[in-house]
Amino acid sequence: MAKGRYTESGEESPKVKITRESLRESAMIFGYLKPYRFKFAAALGFIALSAGTTMAFPYLLKTLIDSAHGSLILPFRLPFQLTTGRIAVAMMALLTLQMLISFMRVYLFTLVGENAVADMRKDIYRKLITMPMDFFANRRVGELSSRITADISQIQDTVTNALAEMLRGFLTLIIGLGLILYISVKMTLLMLSVIPVILLVGFIFSKRIRTIARETQDQLADSGTVVQETLQGISNVKTFTNEWYEIGRYNKSITSMVSLAIRNGRLRGFFVSFLLFTVFGAIVLVVWYGAGLMQQGALSFGDLMAFVVYTAFVGGTMAGFAELYSQFQKTLGATQRVREILKDMEEPVSINPETLPEKYKLKGNVSFANISFSYPSRTDNPVLKDISFSVDKGRQVAIVGPSGAGKSTLISLLLGFYKPTGGTISFDDKNAVDIPITNLRQQIALVPQDILLFGGTIYENIAYGRHDANEAEVMEAARKANAHDFIMSFPEGYKTVVGERGVKLSGGQRQRVAIARALLKDPVILLLDEATSSLDSESEMQVQEALQNLMKNRTSFVVAHRLSTIRNADMIMVLEDGMIKESGTHEELLAIHEGLYKYLAELQIR
Ligand SMILES: Nc1ncnc2c1ncn2[C@@H]1O[C@H](COP(=O)(O)OP(=O)(O)OP(=O)(O)O)[C@@H](O)[C@H]1O
Ligand SMILES: [Mg+2]
Repeated sequence: MAKGRYTESGEESPKVKITRESLRESAMIFGYLKPYRFKFAAALGFIALSAGTTMAFPYLLKTLIDSAHGSLILPFRLPFQLTTGRIAVAMMALLTLQMLISFMRVYLFTLVGENAVADMRKDIYRKLITMPMDFFANRRVGELSSRITADISQIQDTVTNALAEMLRGFLTLIIGLGLILYISVKMTLLMLSVIPVILLVGFIFSKRIRTIARETQDQLADSGTVVQETLQGISNVKTFTNEWYEIGRYNKSITSMVSLAIRNGRLRGFFVSFLLFTVFGAIVLVVWYGAGLMQQGALSFGDLMAFVVYTAFVGGTMAGFAELYSQFQKTLGATQRVREILKDMEEPVSINPETLPEKYKLKGNVSFANISFSYPSRTDNPVLKDISFSVDKGRQVAIVGPSGAGKSTLISLLLGFYKPTGGTISFDDKNAVDIPITNLRQQIALVPQDILLFGGTIYENIAYGRHDANEAEVMEAARKANAHDFIMSFPEGYKTVVGERGVKLSGGQRQRVAIARALLKDPVILLLDEATSSLDSESEMQVQEALQNLMKNRTSFVVAHRLSTIRNADMIMVLEDGMIKESGTHEELLAIHEGLYKYLAELQIR
């Protein structure tokens, strides 16, 4: 079973040092914001306004209190009498304005963030699905889908939230500091003197807290892997009666996670109580000092109160910055990985087949000239060696040979999933590399070795072969594929839902649905990679008949494990170790003394 820590596969975005380089890389995000730049600018404006109104509120509160006290001294002259009633009305007006501003801020940021991120998601998906096959061979599917979900969520969070918080924070800090300095320079300095202490202690604690937090995360991911693996492979667990073993594995993983989390909690507890003591200690000192000033008449009660409130704003903002910083680090990590995908080369498929420049109609002649091939991931392992053959249109070619001989690989080359490392594949007299890949694949159908049905109805699964087919055509294809009868035996007929959450079809039934799908596509060239699992003779006969229908009037390549399938083939190629060992008709091959085909045939008769 594939093992992997979620941290590697990207459940949690990695943190990246904030450097000029990484910042430049993340500029990609702004490209996605560009279509919404006016709305985004407006949103930023509302943030500034909202910071302003929030900060104005305590000042008005102070004015109200002081004017009731009769100790209000304004730094400027007003053309009208400032009564408590007027101040209260002004405050209510400010609150109303604040309401409007807050609404616009949240609304606009959501609008811009959601749209920009949706664009990014669509881009990445389009990019992913048009990647060549070897891109997928080198990566885990879990990793890829996590990039689409986890990394983009991280980015979204930053766009819709962290950027706004950052701007607000800066404004709050500047206005707040300015105001408390204005109220009392001495008190401000006294208050600010605790900051270096907090920073130092915070620095020491946060490093240890982060290390433990990461370990906890890894441990949690490990236990997640246990759950995922065992639930996916539940039949394995049960056949080997390994429930007790898995329970033990899970418990152990959870226990060590808990002890880590508790250690982390203890550290955080120490830190939080230290912070509270320092901050409130400083406030007590400052208020004590301020109370003295008040007694001397150097400070009004409203001033003292406003000072405490603004200090709380400033302190809260500073604490928030630490969190924001780590958010930004994570986002940089996420953007880097997303960019990695976006800059990889995709396959030259045309996404909209109708817009193909010129459609080259295949006749069905196929030839391989000295084809050699090794997979990009294992270049030292030649899978096909010097394969040459040619097939006239409408002929039936069978490929047989031991497991691992390279049969499925040969089929992949025909579909252009990979490029041969040497030699030329030609369709009719045209070099395969000169035919647009979409054009080629449109005229080839594959019934693969392991058939995957999509979650959906049987009807939809057959119609996947040709989306514009009508109901009569779908049913006709199902009839020819010998699938109609078993489909109709389900209470919901063609509307029966199959796939992961639906009815499980048997191997033979799945094969016939796949054959119907291929029939509907009506390809010039047919590729059939026979399933290795054996069918009972009844369904084998039905599949056989369906195949005969499918192969009529087309060039077909059939990878066969049951030699009975291919007795009538025009040519049988015996592949071993990536080379063609023998080729000819059934009779010709049986006549070869000590031949491989003869040996395989004799094995199956026994
Ligand atoms: N994506 C891949 N990357 C690297 N090597 C691969 C890949 N797919 C197959 N191979 C290797 O290529 C060789 C041929 O594999 P292939 O699937 O073509 O065999 P096959 O003849 O279809 O076997 P079977 O009868 O079991 O289906 C094997 O050694 C296999 O390990
Ligand atoms: Mg195979």
